[in-house]
Amino acid sequence: MSVVTGGNSGIGAGIARGLARSGASVAVWGRREDANAEIVSELSRLGGEGRGEPAGVVCDVTLEGDIVRATGETLERYGRIDSCFANAGGGDLSPLLHTSLEQWDRVVRLDLTSVFLTFREIARHMVERGGGGRLIATSSIGTIFGMPRQSSYSAAKGGVDALVRSLAVELARDGIRVNSILAGWVDTPMTAPLLAWEKFDQTIVHRTPLRRWGRPPDFEGLAVYLASEASEFMTGETIRLDGGYSVF
Ligand SMILES: NC(=O)c1ccc[n+]([C@@H]2O[C@H](COP(=O)([O-])OP(=O)(O)OC[C@H]3O[C@@H](n4cnc5c(N)ncnc54)[C@H](OP(=O)(O)O)[C@@H]3O)[C@@H](O)[C@H]2O)c1
Repeated sequence: MSVVTGGNSGIGAGIARGLARSGASVAVWGRREDANAEIVSELSRLGGEGRGEPAGVVCDVTLEGDIVRATGETLERYGRIDSCFANAGGGDLSPLLHTSLEQWDRVVRLDLTSVFLTFREIARHMVERGGGGRLIATSSIGTIFGMPRQSSYSAAKGGVDALVRSLAVELARDGIRVNSILAGWVDTPMTAPLLAWEKFDQTIVHRTPLRRWGRPPDFEGLAVYLASEASEFMTGETIRLDGGYSVF
């Protein structure tokens, strides 16, 4: 079974749909109970023979206590966790000179510390039960391009990629593979204000060889690949999914 944090919206919902369609049981962790219930109801209607019912777990991934509780609730329901997508996150478009320490800390806690806490808690379970597992984070092109007014977000996501490489080596002996998906510009509620800005939208489309923004369904196949044995020799990798943006 798979855990998807931030699985009730955008990229996380795409990941959750792909996993459910492929036959996995999925637990979606997010703060909003109603949004969790909505995606769970959608997932329960998707194909996938032999899987258990999907579930929503209310969890704020910036809170250690919530992650410990959510892990416990998920294990109580499913008995084991095979893969975990630490996908919940969000940005802050403050220019450096107007970024307070509180804002910086909030973004780093949401985009980096949450991944550490989620992976640590779930890896504890995986190591204890034996048999390995898969940990996957959602990274961003902010880690390879200089993005103005995204210093805290880009720094946090860069930390995620470094964390993934470090854990890939540390946890390999336990059969736990650790990778990240580096997403380009994707049409989700997070980027809605940017998409609504015509000049920005056009710049992204012209700058992307495949001439469009990414969409949540684009993440379904890669999620299934990384959560399955098809990727059994892959660890410590950051896979770009950006329509060619970063090679143009
Ligand atoms: N869209 C892009 O262009 C893009 C590009 C690169 C990387 N990303 C990354 O992709 C991931 C998903 O973003 P998205 O674009 O799909 O945004 P989104 O549609 O706004 O989804 C964000 C998700 O994160 C959850 N979340 C936010 N804060 C949380 C918290 N404190 N605790 C638990 N869950 C929380 C939200 O659920 P609740 O509100 O219910 O908690 C929601 O499910 C993020 O890590 C983002 O940085 C996005």
